[in-house]
Amino acid sequence: MDKLVIEGGVTLKGEVTISGAKNSALPIMAATILTDDACIIKGVPVLRDTNTMVKILRSLGKCVEFENGVVTVTSGKSLNHVADYKLVSTMRASFCVLGPLLGKLKKAKVSLPGGCIIGVRPVDLHLKGIKALGATIDIEGGYVVAKADKLKGNHIYLGGVYGSSVLATDNVMMAAVLAHGKTVIESAACEPEVADLAEFLIKMGAKITGHGTPIIEIEGVAHLHGCTHTVIPDRIEAGTMMLASLITHGDISIKNVAIHHLGALIDKLQEAGAALVKSDHAIRVRRKTRLKAVNLTTLPYPGFPTDMQAQMMSLMSITPGISVVTEKIYPDRFMHVAELNRMGANIQREGPHAIVSGIKELSGAPVMASDLRASACLVLAGLAAKGETAISRIYHLERG
Ligand code: EPZ
Repeated sequence: MDKLVIEGGVTLKGEVTISGAKNSALPIMAATILTDDACIIKGVPVLRDTNTMVKILRSLGKCVEFENGVVTVTSGKSLNHVADYKLVSTMRASFCVLGPLLGKLKKAKVSLPGGCIIGVRPVDLHLKGIKALGATIDIEGGYVVAKADKLKGNHIYLGGVYGSSVLATDNVMMAAVLAHGKTVIESAACEPEVADLAEFLIKMGAKITGHGTPIIEIEGVAHLHGCTHTVIPDRIEAGTMMLASLITHGDISIKNVAIHHLGALIDKLQEAGAALVKSDHAIRVRRKTRLKAVNLTTLPYPGFPTDMQAQMMSLMSITPGISVVTEKIYPDRFMHVAELNRMGANIQREGPHAIVSGIKELSGAPVMASDLRASACLVLAGLAAKGETAISRIYHLERG
């Protein structure tokens, strides 16, 4: 698909079931490199990114089947330690094969992922952690070449300028599970997807405690075995559906939701005046009164997720009052601002802040998607806008 055309003004009502989390599934699929046994991963969303990870695992020599949301990974003839530029450059998450390749083979050659539209996105923390485990790192022809005779546990502080790093924590954790001795990761990312990866590794026989907190402790083991795991529900997909209900004055019941992963968003929506009815694994979302503008700042989990910032901006763009949106994870993640303004929004960017003055109504327009969450933001805006919105470069949306 290269374009999505939305006729706005329809109220969304009904039920929707959320898929497994993309950002859990991707590192969990990479973790299968750590064993020769069969691993079965359930609830994997059928997306371009998960299909890319299938291709990467196959290129490394794994046998992979992906049917009806179930990924089965078994060993091929031998494991190859080189992750090619052509694949890694299409998806940054592919860089998380570095840790498991190094853990399993004691060598890895993985293409540097490069920057992307949401910012520079360095990998210094990944490399710092891997080095601390005793590996040498060289950059050769755009590839990270990591080698170690043996990996040794260490105490690693993994905080960066913008706080903790999700995929760096994943990479170091996956390298450390087969290292000799104990590793402590301090300032580890606390995102539920990191904890889900740790749960998967524990099912494989790893000894990990503290996941979901800033201090993760890993006692290395000699080998890991196969297991079966179901990935957690996607909190960003759930959050996006919640906003779809509010922005269209709808009434949506969202199923397969891990409500405790959505604390910051739920708090903001309640502050804005939304009516939310929570039950065990579901949430019903609608308006009860006029919504009001709220300020928000993105932060590492459990703070407000950067992956919900763009979608929330769509809602704020037609909510009366002034809302200040501050982006603290990716200070340049504002490509959607100009596109929303093309639809009539009144948003001014001031460095890492966007000042959103709520207007009465957006008007449909041709706009361009720049990344996955910016695409979701424009879809929401298009649903609420008067008239037709044509979103081009929609392939970004198909990634996730
Ligand atoms: C993960 O990316 C997610 N991707 C992103 O989701 C998400 O936006 C991000 O975490 C933040 O929550 C996956 O899980 C596949 P980080 P990741 O390392 O791990 C800086 C989506 O739309 N940093 O936690 O790559 C970095 O520049 C995607 O689904 C360093 O400085 O993000 C950023 O400012 C987009 N050095 C901050 O840390 C490093 O070595 C957090 O990034 C690594 C990161």
